[in-house]
Amino acid sequence: MPGSRVPRRRRFLVCEPRHFAVRYAINPWMRPGEPVDVIRALDQWQALVDTYRAHGHTVETVAPVPGLPDMVFAANAAVVVEGRVFGSLFHAPERRPESVPYEAWFKQAGFEVHHPESVCEGEGDLVPAGRWILAGTGFRTTREAHREVQEFFGVPVIGLTLVDPYFYHLDTALFVLDDGSEGGDGNIAYYPEAFSPGSREVLARLYPDAVVATREDALAFGLNSVCDGRHVFISPGATALAGRLADRGYVPVPVDLSELHKAGGGIKCCTQEIRENRS
Ligand code: ARG
Repeated sequence: MPGSRVPRRRRFLVCEPRHFAVRYAINPWMRPGEPVDVIRALDQWQALVDTYRAHGHTVETVAPVPGLPDMVFAANAAVVVEGRVFGSLFHAPERRPESVPYEAWFKQAGFEVHHPESVCEGEGDLVPAGRWILAGTGFRTTREAHREVQEFFGVPVIGLTLVDPYFYHLDTALFVLDDGSEGGDGNIAYYPEAFSPGSREVLARLYPDAVVATREDALAFGLNSVCDGRHVFISPGATALAGRLADRGYVPVPVDLSELHKAGGGIKCCTQEIRENRS
Protein backbone atom coordinates (compact mmCIF):
# COMPACT_ATOMS: atom_id res chain seq x y z
CA MET A 1 0.00 0.00 0.00
CA PRO A 2 1.17 3.60 -0.49
CA GLY A 3 3.96 4.36 1.93
CA SER A 4 5.02 0.74 2.32
CA ARG A 5 7.30 0.44 -0.73
CA VAL A 6 10.96 0.85 0.17
CA PRO A 7 13.45 2.52 -2.17
CA ARG A 8 17.01 1.21 -2.51
CA ARG A 9 19.85 3.60 -3.37
CA ARG A 10 21.22 3.01 -6.84
CA ARG A 11 24.46 3.85 -8.62
CA PHE A 12 23.89 5.17 -12.12
CA LEU A 13 26.18 6.04 -15.01
CA VAL A 14 24.98 8.65 -17.51
CA CYS A 15 26.36 10.66 -20.44
CA GLU A 16 25.49 14.28 -21.16
CA PRO A 17 23.78 14.78 -24.58
CA ARG A 18 26.21 17.56 -25.57
CA HIS A 19 26.69 16.00 -29.02
CA PHE A 20 23.16 14.67 -29.36
CA ALA A 21 21.69 14.64 -32.89
CA VAL A 22 19.60 12.46 -35.17
CA ARG A 23 21.96 11.85 -38.06
CA TYR A 24 21.06 8.31 -39.10
CA ALA A 25 17.92 6.18 -38.70
CA ILE A 26 18.34 2.84 -36.93
CA ASN A 27 14.85 2.66 -35.43
CA PRO A 28 11.45 3.99 -36.60
CA TRP A 29 11.53 6.97 -34.21
CA MET A 30 14.57 8.53 -35.88
CA ARG A 31 14.00 11.08 -38.69
CA PRO A 32 17.34 12.53 -39.72
CA GLY A 33 15.79 15.64 -41.36
CA GLU A 34 13.92 16.69 -38.22
CA PRO A 35 15.60 19.42 -36.16
CA VAL A 36 16.89 18.56 -32.69
CA ASP A 37 17.23 21.19 -29.97
CA VAL A 38 20.44 20.28 -28.13
CA ILE A 39 19.93 22.94 -25.44
CA ARG A 40 16.51 21.49 -24.68
CA ALA A 41 17.94 17.95 -24.65
CA LEU A 42 20.64 19.10 -22.20
CA ASP A 43 18.08 20.79 -19.92
CA GLN A 44 15.80 17.76 -19.89
CA TRP A 45 18.71 15.41 -19.25
CA GLN A 46 20.02 17.62 -16.41
CA ALA A 47 16.57 17.51 -14.83
CA LEU A 48 16.74 13.69 -14.89
CA VAL A 49 20.14 13.72 -13.17
CA ASP A 50 18.95 16.26 -10.58
CA THR A 51 15.83 14.18 -9.91
CA TYR A 52 17.88 11.01 -9.34
CA ARG A 53 20.18 12.86 -6.93
CA ALA A 54 17.24 14.46 -5.11
CA HIS A 55 15.97 10.92 -4.49
CA GLY A 56 19.27 9.80 -2.98
CA HIS A 57 20.84 8.03 -5.96
CA THR A 58 24.48 8.30 -6.99
CA VAL A 59 24.98 9.54 -10.53
CA GLU A 60 28.33 9.35 -12.30
CA THR A 61 29.12 10.61 -15.77
CA VAL A 62 31.15 9.47 -18.73
CA ALA A 63 32.44 12.28 -20.97
CA PRO A 64 30.51 12.62 -24.25
CA VAL A 65 32.50 12.17 -27.46
CA PRO A 66 31.91 14.37 -30.54
CA GLY A 67 30.54 12.41 -33.48
CA LEU A 68 28.73 9.86 -31.27
CA PRO A 69 25.21 11.38 -31.09
CA ASP A 70 23.61 8.32 -29.42
CA MET A 71 26.20 8.11 -26.64
CA VAL A 72 23.64 9.69 -24.28
CA PHE A 73 21.93 6.28 -24.22
CA ALA A 74 24.21 4.88 -21.54
CA ALA A 75 22.05 1.82 -20.89
CA ASN A 76 23.16 0.30 -24.18
CA ALA A 77 26.87 0.27 -23.37
CA ALA A 78 26.93 -2.64 -20.91
CA VAL A 79 25.04 -4.68 -18.36
CA VAL A 80 26.52 -4.87 -14.87
CA VAL A 81 25.58 -7.58 -12.37
CA GLU A 82 27.39 -8.13 -9.06
CA GLY A 83 30.19 -5.86 -10.20
CA ARG A 84 30.79 -7.85 -13.39
CA VAL A 85 30.61 -5.85 -16.60
CA PHE A 86 29.41 -7.45 -19.83
CA GLY A 87 30.16 -4.90 -22.55
CA SER A 88 28.33 -4.28 -25.82
CA LEU A 89 28.82 -4.99 -29.49
CA PHE A 90 26.41 -2.60 -31.18
CA HIS A 91 24.29 -3.72 -34.10
CA ALA A 92 24.66 -0.43 -35.99
CA PRO A 93 28.16 0.40 -37.25
CA GLU A 94 27.46 4.06 -36.34
CA ARG A 95 27.25 3.10 -32.64
CA ARG A 96 30.10 0.58 -32.41
CA PRO A 97 32.73 3.20 -31.41
CA GLU A 98 30.71 4.06 -28.26
CA SER A 99 32.09 0.94 -26.59
CA VAL A 100 35.56 2.50 -26.37
CA PRO A 101 34.82 5.48 -24.05
CA TYR A 102 32.43 3.39 -21.94
CA GLU A 103 34.98 0.64 -21.52
CA ALA A 104 37.59 3.25 -20.55
CA TRP A 105 35.19 4.62 -17.94
CA PHE A 106 34.59 1.18 -16.42
CA LYS A 107 38.34 0.45 -16.35
CA GLN A 108 39.20 3.68 -14.55
CA ALA A 109 36.39 2.91 -12.08
CA GLY A 110 38.08 -0.42 -11.29
CA PHE A 111 35.99 -2.85 -13.37
CA GLU A 112 37.08 -5.30 -16.02
CA VAL A 113 34.94 -5.41 -19.14
CA HIS A 114 34.01 -8.61 -20.96
CA HIS A 115 33.82 -8.19 -24.75
CA PRO A 116 30.88 -10.03 -26.27
CA GLU A 117 31.40 -12.02 -29.46
CA SER A 118 27.85 -11.51 -30.71
CA VAL A 119 25.73 -8.43 -31.22
CA CYS A 120 24.50 -7.31 -27.86
CA GLU A 121 23.28 -3.91 -26.62
CA GLY A 122 23.66 -3.96 -22.85
CA GLU A 123 20.71 -3.06 -20.67
CA GLY A 124 18.75 -2.09 -23.76
CA ASP A 125 18.00 -5.80 -24.16
CA LEU A 126 19.42 -7.41 -21.01
CA VAL A 127 17.33 -6.66 -17.96
CA PRO A 128 18.53 -8.16 -14.66
CA ALA A 129 15.49 -9.19 -12.65
CA GLY A 130 16.85 -10.84 -9.50
CA ARG A 131 17.05 -14.59 -9.97
CA TRP A 132 17.23 -14.33 -13.75
CA ILE A 133 18.05 -11.95 -16.57
CA LEU A 134 15.27 -11.11 -19.02
CA ALA A 135 16.78 -10.87 -22.49
CA GLY A 136 15.24 -9.38 -25.61
CA THR A 137 15.98 -10.40 -29.17
CA GLY A 138 14.43 -9.78 -32.58
CA PHE A 139 15.96 -6.44 -33.57
CA ARG A 140 19.35 -5.97 -31.88
CA THR A 141 20.75 -8.43 -29.32
CA THR A 142 21.11 -11.95 -30.72
CA ARG A 143 20.20 -15.34 -29.25
CA GLU A 144 23.87 -16.18 -29.42
CA ALA A 145 24.56 -13.23 -27.11
CA HIS A 146 21.92 -14.51 -24.65
CA ARG A 147 23.93 -17.74 -24.41
CA GLU A 148 27.11 -15.76 -23.81
CA VAL A 149 25.44 -13.65 -21.10
CA GLN A 150 24.25 -16.76 -19.26
CA GLU A 151 27.70 -18.32 -19.46
CA PHE A 152 29.38 -15.13 -18.24
CA PHE A 153 27.13 -14.37 -15.26
CA GLY A 154 25.98 -17.90 -14.40
CA VAL A 155 22.47 -16.51 -14.07
CA PRO A 156 19.56 -18.04 -16.03
CA VAL A 157 18.72 -16.00 -19.10
CA ILE A 158 15.12 -15.89 -20.25
CA GLY A 159 14.92 -15.09 -23.94
CA LEU A 160 11.99 -12.95 -25.11
CA THR A 161 11.21 -12.16 -28.75
CA LEU A 162 10.28 -8.59 -29.65
CA VAL A 163 8.02 -8.19 -32.70
CA ASP A 164 7.18 -4.47 -33.05
CA PRO A 165 9.91 -2.24 -34.55
CA TYR A 166 8.81 0.72 -32.37
CA PHE A 167 9.80 -1.41 -29.37
CA TYR A 168 13.13 -2.59 -30.73
CA HIS A 169 14.87 -2.89 -27.34
CA LEU A 170 13.48 -4.85 -24.39
CA ASP A 171 13.73 -1.71 -22.23
CA THR A 172 11.18 0.06 -24.45
CA ALA A 173 8.58 -2.63 -23.66
CA LEU A 174 9.29 -3.72 -20.08
CA PHE A 175 10.87 -2.57 -16.83
CA VAL A 176 11.48 -4.16 -13.45
CA LEU A 177 9.42 -2.93 -10.51
CA ASP A 178 10.73 -5.41 -7.96
CA ASP A 179 13.66 -7.80 -8.41
CA GLY A 180 12.54 -10.10 -5.60
CA SER A 181 15.47 -9.10 -3.36
CA GLU A 182 13.05 -8.30 -0.50
CA GLY A 183 11.45 -11.74 -0.86
CA GLY A 184 8.74 -12.87 -3.25
CA ASP A 185 9.03 -13.45 -6.97
CA GLY A 186 9.54 -9.88 -8.11
CA ASN A 187 7.42 -7.97 -10.56
CA ILE A 188 7.53 -6.01 -13.80
CA ALA A 189 5.48 -3.62 -15.92
CA TYR A 190 5.23 -4.39 -19.65
CA TYR A 191 3.36 -3.98 -22.91
CA PRO A 192 2.36 -7.51 -24.00
CA GLU A 193 1.79 -6.75 -27.71
CA ALA A 194 5.47 -5.89 -28.13
CA PHE A 195 6.24 -9.62 -27.71
CA SER A 196 5.69 -12.79 -29.72
CA PRO A 197 2.77 -14.97 -28.49
CA GLY A 198 5.11 -17.47 -26.82
CA SER A 199 7.10 -14.74 -25.07
CA ARG A 200 3.86 -13.17 -23.85
CA GLU A 201 2.95 -16.49 -22.33
CA VAL A 202 6.35 -16.76 -20.63
CA LEU A 203 5.91 -13.31 -19.07
CA ALA A 204 2.37 -14.14 -17.94
CA ARG A 205 3.66 -17.32 -16.23
CA LEU A 206 6.59 -15.58 -14.53
CA TYR A 207 4.69 -12.46 -13.55
CA PRO A 208 0.99 -13.16 -13.05
CA ASP A 209 0.68 -9.86 -11.12
CA ALA A 210 2.49 -7.68 -13.63
CA VAL A 211 1.36 -4.14 -14.30
CA VAL A 212 0.18 -4.20 -17.91
CA ALA A 213 0.62 -1.06 -20.01
CA THR A 214 -1.42 0.20 -22.96
CA ARG A 215 -0.02 0.93 -26.42
CA GLU A 216 -0.36 4.66 -25.65
CA ASP A 217 1.76 4.21 -22.52
CA ALA A 218 4.35 2.29 -24.52
CA LEU A 219 4.42 4.85 -27.35
CA ALA A 220 4.92 7.58 -24.73
CA PHE A 221 8.08 5.69 -23.56
CA GLY A 222 6.30 4.75 -20.34
CA LEU A 223 8.00 1.33 -20.23
CA ASN A 224 11.39 2.97 -20.53
CA SER A 225 11.22 3.77 -16.84
CA VAL A 226 13.52 3.32 -13.85
CA CYS A 227 12.13 2.07 -10.53
CA ASP A 228 14.12 2.28 -7.27
CA GLY A 229 11.67 0.06 -5.40
CA ARG A 230 9.33 2.92 -4.53
CA HIS A 231 9.70 5.78 -7.03
CA VAL A 232 9.15 5.21 -10.73
CA PHE A 233 10.96 7.78 -12.87
CA ILE A 234 8.56 7.83 -15.79
CA SER A 235 7.65 9.77 -18.92
CA PRO A 236 4.80 12.22 -18.17
CA GLY A 237 2.92 10.99 -21.26
CA ALA A 238 2.32 7.53 -19.77
CA THR A 239 -0.72 8.61 -17.77
CA ALA A 240 -2.67 5.32 -17.64
CA LEU A 241 0.43 3.44 -16.55
CA ALA A 242 1.29 6.03 -13.88
CA GLY A 243 -2.22 5.56 -12.47
CA ARG A 244 -1.86 1.78 -12.37
CA LEU A 245 1.52 2.08 -10.66
CA ALA A 246 0.11 4.46 -8.06
CA ASP A 247 -2.70 1.95 -7.39
CA ARG A 248 0.02 -0.60 -6.55
CA GLY A 249 1.72 1.71 -4.07
CA TYR A 250 4.48 3.08 -6.32
CA VAL A 251 5.18 6.78 -6.57
CA PRO A 252 5.44 7.97 -10.20
CA VAL A 253 8.00 10.75 -10.62
CA PRO A 254 7.48 12.31 -14.07
CA VAL A 255 10.59 13.34 -16.00
CA ASP A 256 10.19 14.64 -19.55
CA LEU A 257 12.83 13.59 -22.08
CA SER A 258 10.78 14.41 -25.17
CA GLU A 259 13.77 15.78 -27.08
CA LEU A 260 15.57 12.45 -26.68
CA HIS A 261 12.48 10.54 -27.83
CA LYS A 262 13.39 11.82 -31.33
CA ALA A 263 16.22 9.27 -31.30
CA GLY A 264 14.01 6.53 -29.89
CA GLY A 265 15.19 6.76 -26.30
CA GLY A 266 13.85 7.78 -22.90
CA ILE A 267 14.67 7.68 -19.20
CA LYS A 268 15.95 4.10 -18.92
CA CYS A 269 17.94 4.37 -22.15
CA CYS A 270 19.85 7.26 -20.57
CA THR A 271 20.60 5.30 -17.39
CA GLN A 272 23.15 2.54 -16.89
CA GLU A 273 22.78 0.86 -13.49
CA ILE A 274 25.93 -0.31 -11.79
CA ARG A 275 24.88 -3.27 -9.66
CA GLU A 276 27.70 -4.17 -7.31
CA ASN A 277 26.26 -6.61 -4.84
CA ARG A 278 24.10 -9.65 -5.12
CA SER A 279 20.55 -8.32 -4.86
N1 ARG B 1 19.07 5.82 -31.28
C1 ARG B 1 19.38 4.79 -30.34
C2 ARG B 1 19.35 3.43 -31.02
O1 ARG B 1 18.46 3.21 -31.81
C3 ARG B 1 18.43 4.81 -29.19
C4 ARG B 1 18.76 3.84 -28.13
C5 ARG B 1 17.78 3.85 -27.01
N2 ARG B 1 18.22 3.05 -25.94
C6 ARG B 1 17.50 2.10 -25.32
N3 ARG B 1 18.02 1.57 -24.25
N4 ARG B 1 16.38 1.67 -25.78
O2 ARG B 1 20.19 2.60 -30.80
